Order: sequence, then structure tokens, then C-alpha cells
Amino acid sequence: MATESPLSTFGAGKVILLGEHSVVYGHPALCGPLSYGVRARGVPAKKCQLSLPATLSRAQRSLLTGAFARAAKLVGEPAVKVTLDPELPLSVGLGSSAALSVACARLLLRAAGQEPSPKEAARLAWAMEQEFHGTPSGVDHTTSAHERLLLYRRAPGAASVGKGRTVDSPKPLKVVVALAGERSPTKVTVSALRARQARWPERYQRLFAQIGRLSMEGAKAVEAGDLEALGDAMNVNQGLLSALGLSSPPLEEMVYRLRGLGALGAKLTGAGGDGGAVVGLFVEPESVVTQLTRLGVRCFSSQLAGPRAS
Ligand code: PMV
Repeated sequence: MATESPLSTFGAGKVILLGEHSVVYGHPALCGPLSYGVRARGVPAKKCQLSLPATLSRAQRSLLTGAFARAAKLVGEPAVKVTLDPELPLSVGLGSSAALSVACARLLLRAAGQEPSPKEAARLAWAMEQEFHGTPSGVDHTTSAHERLLLYRRAPGAASVGKGRTVDSPKPLKVVVALAGERSPTKVTVSALRARQARWPERYQRLFAQIGRLSMEGAKAVEAGDLEALGDAMNVNQGLLSALGLSSPPLEEMVYRLRGLGALGAKLTGAGGDGGAVVGLFVEPESVVTQLTRLGVRCFSSQLAGPRAS
């Protein structure tokens, strides 16, 4: 008897090059997909279910199960048992929850007999992301579902997800992602910033608007193949994130380390806070990863856009 091959789908992680946080307030962000992400596997089962490792806490299990159930319901609960295989560091700003949501969305759609288009996968993943984050901007799962470098924007408070425009790069766009310690959950950092901006709205809106302009300038720089201009926008963005109270000594130290190793630009990526991930733009990232790894830094390189060596 022929054995049925299990379904297998992938959701990419993401790295925000410019515009995190201000994207929550309606300004554009420039965000690219990582080559690492989360893989979902499915086998036929009596009912639609998510199988989770026993190592997860009760709270984590109920969050994941709830998000999965929400998406499953939207596609008629196909009879499949899903397991997850993350190949991405979790909860550090690399979009692991969006990657997981996109992988699950694609798998559920396939199990329901539909070929998942990026748009359909994004729609279903959005339902899961809302469960995870409350009020996400949608930049993470949109980038993950489309697997393209996007200039993404969503009107604040809009009922639906925002829109991403593909940004083409004539040059390979390569980054090093390095981890700088543990951090608080995105929700905590986002709501602390919301409280500050509610108290001093004009001052904070000014900074958000400046960051939004950097994202647009960065997208233009990418399209023009001007990596130095993109790097400079990233450095200025880091200064503004620090002004918004989103950086910290471990993040700053890693930013300066990457700049010292020749990054064209380096900044925190994702929600930031007391730690998390830092992204550096490099023409040749491989030797940097070797050097940092030797020094005990958890890091990897990835190409976000542009022509790939065959
Ligand atoms: O740290 P992450 O991967 O959760 O990134 C969140 C990006 C924010 O702009 C801070 C929040 C959002 O919803 O866009």
C-alpha cells in the first residue's frame, strides 16, 4: 500500500530594516523575509488538531491552540494533525509567531484542498497573529506570506490588514542578524510606548513621521542599488528608536560591534527593549558570521532581496 506523504509547508521569519513601531501608527516600514522560518507538517487524522511539544508551558499551549483553532475554523477544520518545527530563534524580533501562523495557514489551506496563494495564506495567518499580538500592524505575517522585500503600510485602527509594495533590489541585499540577550514580549514594549506617546503625542508623532520617511528613503535607496544610503537610513533609524526609549545597552553594544565589523548600517530589529535581535547590512556577511560565532555570539546571515548566486 502506498503511504501518503505528509503535508509540509514553510513560513519565513522576517527582519525589519526600517520602521518598526512607527508602522503601528500608520507609517511605512521596510521589511524582508529571512531564509529561516517555521515548518509545519501534517498527517491525516480523525479531527483537526495541533500537536505541541510537552516542554511548552500551559500559557504557551493555550495561546497556540487558541490561535490554531481560530484559523482552522475559517477553513472548515480539515482532518489533519499538525506539528511544528521552528528553525528560528523564538520571541527575539524575527517574526517567529508570524512564520508559524503562515506555515499553519498554508498547511490548513492545503489540507482543505486549496492551493495557498500568498494573499489567502496572509488572510488566514492574520487571524492567528491577532490572537498572538492583539493589535499587530500586520507587517510580519504579510512579509512572511509574500516572501518579498516589502514597503508595508496600514492605516492605524483599520479593520483589515495593510498593503505591501514589493521593493526590487538590483543588488544582493544581505544582512547579519545577531542576538543580544533576552527581551520582554512585543506586547509589553508596544504598550509602554503607547503610554508615552499618549502623554506626549506631538513629540512622539514627530519621531514616528521621521522614521516613516526613512523607510521610504530606504526603499528608494534599495531600488537604486545604493546600499550606503540604505545603511545610513538604518543608522539614523537606530538613533530615533533609541530616542523613543526602545534600545538598551545590550542592543547598543551589538549595533556598535556590527558597525565596527564594517556594517553599512546596523540597528535593532523588531520590538527592541531590553534585548533581542540586531540587524547589520553587509556586502559580504559570511566572514562576519564566522568571526562573531567564534566569539560566542548567536548570529546568522540571510539574503533579503536581489539577484542570488546560482
Ligand atoms: O519583535 P516583533 O517581531 O514582534 O516585531 C514587532 C514589530 C512592531 O512594529 C514593534 C509591532 C508591529 O505590530 O508592527
